[in-house]
Amino acid sequence: MNKTLLSGVKPTGRPHIGNYFGAMKQFVDLQNEYNSFIFIADLHAITSPEIQNGATLAQNTKDMLADYLAIGLDPEKTVIYKQSDIPEVAELAWYFDCLVSMPYLMRAHSFKDAEAKDKEINVGVFNYPVLMAADILVVDADVVPVGKDQKQHVEITRDVAGKFNNAYGETFKMPKELMVADVETVPGLDGQKMSKSYGNTIPLFATDDEIRALVAKIPTDSKAVADAKNPDENNIYNIHKVLLSSDENEALRAKYLAGGLSYKEAKDLLVADLIKFIAPLREKRAEIIKDEAYLLKVLNDGKAKVRAVVEAKMAEIRKKVGTDF
Ligand code: TRP
Repeated sequence: MNKTLLSGVKPTGRPHIGNYFGAMKQFVDLQNEYNSFIFIADLHAITSPEIQNGATLAQNTKDMLADYLAIGLDPEKTVIYKQSDIPEVAELAWYFDCLVSMPYLMRAHSFKDAEAKDKEINVGVFNYPVLMAADILVVDADVVPVGKDQKQHVEITRDVAGKFNNAYGETFKMPKELMVADVETVPGLDGQKMSKSYGNTIPLFATDDEIRALVAKIPTDSKAVADAKNPDENNIYNIHKVLLSSDENEALRAKYLAGGLSYKEAKDLLVADLIKFIAPLREKRAEIIKDEAYLLKVLNDGKAKVRAVVEAKMAEIRKKVGTDF
């Protein structure tokens, strides 16, 4: 039996190529090896006030589903669902809430970050890691592929599982985070990590015109065309290399190192490869998003599959807690 993998993604807007190479692509690559569950974390998303609008959340959820289907997440291989289709996670989070202390949750970085930014913190933000523990434990996940920023949440999940097991008897196994070793950190247009909050992204489904305009914004220095250029210090190259096979990468490095490559030409090469990579994904996504009936079918099928797992697990949990007898 394959191990169970679960991960969730908040539907908070348009993904960029940093999201793709840093996380989304792994879900596609891993779906052949694992019994995979990937869900759209709509209940987590509404911890953010910007998403507290029904039309926005519904649209973001459909958009994100289309994004994942377009990049090759296959509903035959991966159970794709939305979190709110298993309201049991909120019930389970409540059972966990009653076992976890406030000072313990106050050490979670999601809470500390929100506090450091002087944000008004709703109880959902405070409870974020507990709901996440419920997401993971309710399907008995073995592995949770996450970025560095989410590692602590998986640690908290293990603590929560341990607390429940102590109180009610052995119920949950201990999930492990799966940090994919060679996950690419994609630099943004300005050379910092690509991130929506830095405004330096290249959207994964950008139009050709957007691609051209964004690449034009990459800052360059005043080296002459004839000068040899160190690719590793060049942000045009550092973005470009994530798109290339190792042979293509060697060839591009050689061009930078030889001299004679203008920044204009370097950018044109990057634009061409971005378009080559993005255009087919964008076209596939455009097809998928048109077919609302298909999107709803994928969600409904995923819901049926995950609910079968969840209902069995919750029956066991409720018996232990004593809410069912
Ligand atoms: N917290 C994750 C994020 O912000 C999303 C998420 C919610 C998640 N529940 C999860 C990830 C369960 C992995 C497992 O990206």
